[in-house]
Amino acid sequence: MKHTITLIPGDGIGPEIVAATVRIIEASGIDIEWETQILGAQALEKFGTTMPESATDSIKKNKVALKGPLTTPIGKGFTSVNVGLRKTLDLYANVRPIRALPNIPCKYPNLDIVIVRENTEDLYAGLEHVVIPGVVESIKIITAKASTRISRYAFEFAQREGRKKVTAVHKANIMKLSDGLFLQCFYDVAKEFPDIPADDKIIDNCCMQLVMNPQQFDVMVMENLYGDIVSDLCAGLIGGLGLAPGANIGEIGAVFEAVHGSAPDIAGQGVANPTAVLMSAILMLKHIGERDAAERTERAMLEVFAEGQTITKDLGGTAKTADFANAIIDKLKK
Ligand code: NAI
Repeated sequence: MKHTITLIPGDGIGPEIVAATVRIIEASGIDIEWETQILGAQALEKFGTTMPESATDSIKKNKVALKGPLTTPIGKGFTSVNVGLRKTLDLYANVRPIRALPNIPCKYPNLDIVIVRENTEDLYAGLEHVVIPGVVESIKIITAKASTRISRYAFEFAQREGRKKVTAVHKANIMKLSDGLFLQCFYDVAKEFPDIPADDKIIDNCCMQLVMNPQQFDVMVMENLYGDIVSDLCAGLIGGLGLAPGANIGEIGAVFEAVHGSAPDIAGQGVANPTAVLMSAILMLKHIGERDAAERTERAMLEVFAEGQTITKDLGGTAKTADFANAIIDKLKK
């Protein structure tokens, strides 16, 4: 079956790691037509807007996109396109599997947890204003609708994937109304899933527990800001940001992308690690029903890691992005 997928190469290292990933996915033998679109600063230059309708329409039509990271310039006048895309397409669930890879030195080689981050509200609603010069207010929005929807997604995910437990992460001891509502919604949904144990952790304690004893967790669900921070912390537990894939899932469509950013410090050098985008693409293949190609690609990637000969610089090796991709492609062709 032929698939049409929207491809957004992105900024910085994006085009390099996305190109490597496309070559690998195509070597798995599945038939994909890529519809390349631009967003962010590149789109602003070409179309006068950071989020052209051609890109969002393409994702709505194809229902699935593979995306490289986009740079968000710091300061006035440029809102995050990543946040905008999640809002426009209502990609409410950000799923971030955290799994250690063979041969990669890391603190927890057997770690296998999944972070489910609410993607549409919280402090990311971008509601900020100057009250008086020198005083800025930033408004945190938490709704029962979004909290219930993300909690249900986490429990359904846990059920589907045979996971053991769902933990809500919050700061309801301080933010009694907002995080209190989130937690209440979580436990209301938990009642619908009596076979899946549910518990909760306060965010600060949770961070300490994640560093000391992360194996106690399985699926973790949290608001947007906590999810953003905790998922980077967890990426550190398994060897770094170059290894953390992500999926943004909604009713209209799904966008698959790495957790890391556009890494301007190493862009254009051909040394970036494409693993996180590749793993996101593997999640994407499963999402579109190409489980066999996904598993073969994953096996080939794991073999390259297990052999330990073709490892990128961020993981202590000397391989370039293209060398790593070629090593996986060689395995896929055998
Ligand atoms: P970053 O994730 O781009 O980089 C942090 C550090 O990790 C850098 O030292 C970088 O070289 C390294 N790194 C990241 N990905 C790597 C890879 N695949 N291989 C090897 N090393 C890698 O975070 P930073 O510097 O905070 O953000 C840069 C830009 O990316 C910003 O404009 C930010 O807004 C944007 N960003 C975009 C995201 C997205 O599009 N989903 C997500 C996060 C940040």
